[in-house]
Amino acid sequence: MSKHLVAPSLLAADFTNLPSALQMFNESQADWLHLDVMDGKFVPNITFGMLMIDAMRKMTEKTLDVHLMIEEPSKYIRAFRDAGADIISVHYEACDHLHRVIHQIKATGAKAGVALNPHTSVELLEDVLEDLDLVVIMSVNPGFGGQKFIYRTLNRVAKLRQMMMERNINAHIEIDGGVGLQNAESLLKAGADVLVAGSSVFKAPDPQKAIEQLKGIESDRKYFI
Ligand code: DX5
Ligand code: ZN
Repeated sequence: MSKHLVAPSLLAADFTNLPSALQMFNESQADWLHLDVMDGKFVPNITFGMLMIDAMRKMTEKTLDVHLMIEEPSKYIRAFRDAGADIISVHYEACDHLHRVIHQIKATGAKAGVALNPHTSVELLEDVLEDLDLVVIMSVNPGFGGQKFIYRTLNRVAKLRQMMMERNINAHIEIDGGVGLQNAESLLKAGADVLVAGSSVFKAPDPQKAIEQLKGIESDRKYFI
């Protein structure tokens, strides 16, 4: 049985000491570093851009999982890839030509993901599912860390995993927002296999231990290779 993945979100780290956050991440059991790019237009907050991805690339060899919460993402995909992104996810709600954007990401050599806001039905991905490496199910409204998990997410995850299984698709399902020990097991059981964790890791007294606990969850998942 393959293990689920844990992706700490840098947004919750102490920005006055990023090298120490990265050292903790590198020494931990964490799999991916989740990087939240916000433009103040698609979401009501601004974070960082490709310079930060470039800096993180210099500090870790682990996978950089870049979550673009920006309008017109197609304009910037090349730049994020050049900065070192391994996975690039764009929002369904930000793309008029989603199929084209997905293939633009793949043409750079990066893995392609699509993120869905809490109100966006997973069924809308039906015609692009085969092309995706990752679906990001937002379990909060994007824009800020530390928000409350929306419980309806569990049904959405189960429905999406069902859709994938029916078609023999093995893409990752990543859950983003309000994830911690209190809901991780239910999410894995529903069919998720990547847990983004911002506050529950970086605001914990011992972040490495928080990662270890999330990694250590056993679930009788039968969904993945
Ligand atoms: C929210 C971001 C999340 C955020 C998660 O818009 O996409 O990745 O960092 O943070 P927590 O785990 O604190 O909800
Ligand atoms: Zn995110």
